[in-house]
Amino acid sequence: MTLPAIPSPSAPTVGITVDHVSKQYGGVTVLHDVSLEVRPGEIFCLMGPSGSGKTVLLKQVAGLETPTSGKVRIGDYDASDPATRDRVHTALVFQAGALFNSLTVYDNLALYPREHRYGTEAQIRDRVMHALSILSLERAVQKMPSELSGGMKKRVAIARALVMEPQLLLYDEPTAELDPVMSATISEIIATLREQITVTSLVVTHDRALALSISDRLAIIMDGRIRATGRPADFHDPADPAIANFLHPVIDVKNPRFKQLENNNE
Ligand SMILES: Nc1ncnc2c1ncn2[C@@H]1O[C@H](COP(=O)(O)OP(=O)(O)OP(=O)(O)O)[C@@H](O)[C@H]1O
Ligand SMILES: [Mg+2]
Repeated sequence: MTLPAIPSPSAPTVGITVDHVSKQYGGVTVLHDVSLEVRPGEIFCLMGPSGSGKTVLLKQVAGLETPTSGKVRIGDYDASDPATRDRVHTALVFQAGALFNSLTVYDNLALYPREHRYGTEAQIRDRVMHALSILSLERAVQKMPSELSGGMKKRVAIARALVMEPQLLLYDEPTAELDPVMSATISEIIATLREQITVTSLVVTHDRALALSISDRLAIIMDGRIRATGRPADFHDPADPAIANFLHPVIDVKNPRFKQLENNNE
């Protein structure tokens, strides 16, 4: 029996080119002429306020949707072309984890490799156990998702992505709803994964600490437009007031809105 080729850890790293991408839904434009480049092997964070278009951009990169205009290329391939999309192993860690509640942790991880016949059951088992060990989850292997904490669910979602031995890892809000300690653990995991497996990572987040600590470069998106791109050090003292306010929000307690709240509490 011949099995489909599995990219080995020495599979080439790929870059992402987002080239003048716009996206409309029902005539409403949510991405406006977005261009950016993620270099092979890089950790690139895309930050921006809620509703700015981060998840929509990630969907165009993952090939789940096709841009209204412009192109996304993964290495040499068009991300939206079904004929070539599978040539680069891409794994997406969803915003809400998206585990199957009726399956154990083991079966959640084994599902996709079984469906796509990525090896014998013994080979799949080795991969699943290896991915769980990277995320220190060996003891959760027979648990159901309902028995896991939020942080464990995120780690299981990352482990499930690793089982595919991806060349490209796309994360949507990997630290959302986690406490600061668990967020720091996830940051560490993303950073160490790059050393353990050869992978290019695109991380969508509003977590400023995460983006500034792990990214090689980052971009800030606002209202569907890229507002700035640079290395973390370039964002220490941003001249653009919109970016400064996003990165270091100032809460004005003298704002009449706070007065209103105070009065309501009386
Ligand atoms: N399938 C869709 N149809 C219509 N509008 C959509 C669709 N998907 C997203 N949008 C709109 O596109 C805009 C950007 O959404 P997106 O989910 O990318 O935001 P986000 O930056 O990921 O926000 P958050 O940080 O809250 O996850 C929003 O105004 C949203 O309502
Ligand atoms: Mg989102």
